[in-house]
Amino acid sequence: MATMQSLIGLVNRIQRACTALGDYGGGDSTFSSLWDALPSVAVVGGQSSGKSSVLESIVGRDFLPRGSGIVTRRPLVLQLHQTEGREEEYAEFGHLPRRRFTDFSLVRKEIQDETDRITGKTKQISPIPIHLSIYSPHVVNLTLIDLPGLTKVAVEGQSETIVEDIENMVRLYVEKVDCLIVDIRGERTFGVLTKLDLMDKGTNALDVLEGRAYRLQHPWVGIVNRSQADINKNTDMMYARRREREYFATSPDYGHLANKMGSEYLAKLLSEHLEKVIKGKLPGITSMINKGIEEMEAELDHLGRPIAVDAGAQLYTILELCRAFDKIFKEHLDGGRPGGDR
Ligand code: GDP
Ligand code: NA
Ligand code: MG
Repeated sequence: MATMQSLIGLVNRIQRACTALGDYGGGDSTFSSLWDALPSVAVVGGQSSGKSSVLESIVGRDFLPRGSGIVTRRPLVLQLHQTEGREEEYAEFGHLPRRRFTDFSLVRKEIQDETDRITGKTKQISPIPIHLSIYSPHVVNLTLIDLPGLTKVAVEGQSETIVEDIENMVRLYVEKVDCLIVDIRGERTFGVLTKLDLMDKGTNALDVLEGRAYRLQHPWVGIVNRSQADINKNTDMMYARRREREYFATSPDYGHLANKMGSEYLAKLLSEHLEKVIKGKLPGITSMINKGIEEMEAELDHLGRPIAVDAGAQLYTILELCRAFDKIFKEHLDGGRPGGDR
């Protein structure tokens, strides 16, 4: 388990390094296939169904633009890195590699500004992702993708093709990921039901949560996010998590499911699932990494360090990461036997 956690951490770092290297990697290199082989989770669902809110709850921080209407207009690739022993939490954007954000309200503002930089201050969407990493002792290692919500009609200021455009964008991302949360069926899908607190009195969602209404391979998880009124009041995330736990613990309808409900449980479930996915993919990933190491060594020879410092340094970092990955992978296969040299 400890080994698997560090493996997920390493996979996240390789994924991030590959993203940074995207410019050098080109379309069909080992790096982009490596990216495809690494595990990730996307959220899919209707507009304002609470997708961004679910992601915030999983992270336990307040940092995403949320609200009614089309708020998420570019995909956000969010990598969570669990840091051990350090209390500080910070965020970094792919497009601002040298800046550490410790104020999460500035993270939200940067997402909005960076969205507008590509789409203009309109209601247009763009498939070009924003990359964000969060480092914290309070997260589980996961890659999450927040997507614009599916919608049925264009609103003023949007192109006529917006409904189709969003569907195509969602499809593009969904094809690549290992699991989805919210709304869609299938083997990779984790069903997430938000807004349980808003249901009419006297009704409940047990048919869905207990898997009778829609059967999924994975269990359904019910969620209570912050309401718009909570957001307007700046309700604290930790308080919201605690309140969500109490909601389930004291609910006459859901009390018996309380330990399988809520954002924290969902995060744990997703992380465990990804561990399994990684295990299944290890052989493929390793051979790709070995191929990558060869390619990179050739590339490094070719570049020569003094000429292209940046590219060289990045390749070097990835090379180090890949070697570390290879080492952990071998230890994993050997079951930690000392001196194992498979
Ligand atoms: P998205 O468009 O799917 O990303 O949805 P958002 O996360 O932006 O949420 C849309 C609105 O629904 C916001 O005003 C949220 O506060 C509200 N909301 C989301 N989840 C819940 C929930 O579980 N309960 C309540 N009461 N409101 C929620
Ligand atoms: Na919304
Ligand atoms: Mg959203």
